[in-house]
Amino acid sequence: MAQITTIQLGDRTFVLDREKAEAAYAAKRVINGRETMFFNILPVKYAWAYDLYKTMKANHWEPEDIQMQRDIEQWRDSSGKISETDRWIIKMAIGYFSAAEGIVGDNIQHVVRELVTAPELKLVLGRHAHEENIHADSLVYMISSLGINPHECEAMFEDIETIKQKTEFVVTNSRALRRDMDLSTLENKQALAKNIFLFGQCMEGTQFYGLFGMVLALYRQT
Ligand SMILES: [Fe+2]
Repeated sequence: MAQITTIQLGDRTFVLDREKAEAAYAAKRVINGRETMFFNILPVKYAWAYDLYKTMKANHWEPEDIQMQRDIEQWRDSSGKISETDRWIIKMAIGYFSAAEGIVGDNIQHVVRELVTAPELKLVLGRHAHEENIHADSLVYMISSLGINPHECEAMFEDIETIKQKTEFVVTNSRALRRDMDLSTLENKQALAKNIFLFGQCMEGTQFYGLFGMVLALYRQT
């Protein structure tokens, strides 16, 4: 008879077959781990990732949680409360984020989540992709609440050569990793690390925050 072991996770106890559990644990890796069609979260090897998933899940929000009545009144006000420059900033932000949220979510789902093998990390990355869906949906909510024409924002966005080049750069990087990559080679490991840095730091951590800074500065002026 198989030896049974119990593991404690948070306030729950799970029963596992010891031999299989030890083999599954040993085969778990962030990358280059065992590929299985079973979603073997247990036994958890990367507890920090599982905890992170729980935290991300608890942070769930809906765009409609934010009341936009005051924004709508201000946007419709033609007495100059919102200058043309302010409107330009908002439309550019909508244009940029409409494209960027989709690109980031797509990369998480089709590159990073595909290449990572540990199921605990796949949970985190799946939740991250869902978060990007919420961000994209929040733009739909803003556009429809304010009565903005999204195509006008897109056109402004596409008119700027440097922005076009940046988008081209990140999309090309993401597309290049959508294949069966042999992650045992140093070169490909570096390509994945570069991709994660590009999307996580250069885009989310720098470009996005730069733009948030502009939008939040408008709020401070009111
Ligand atoms: Fe996002």
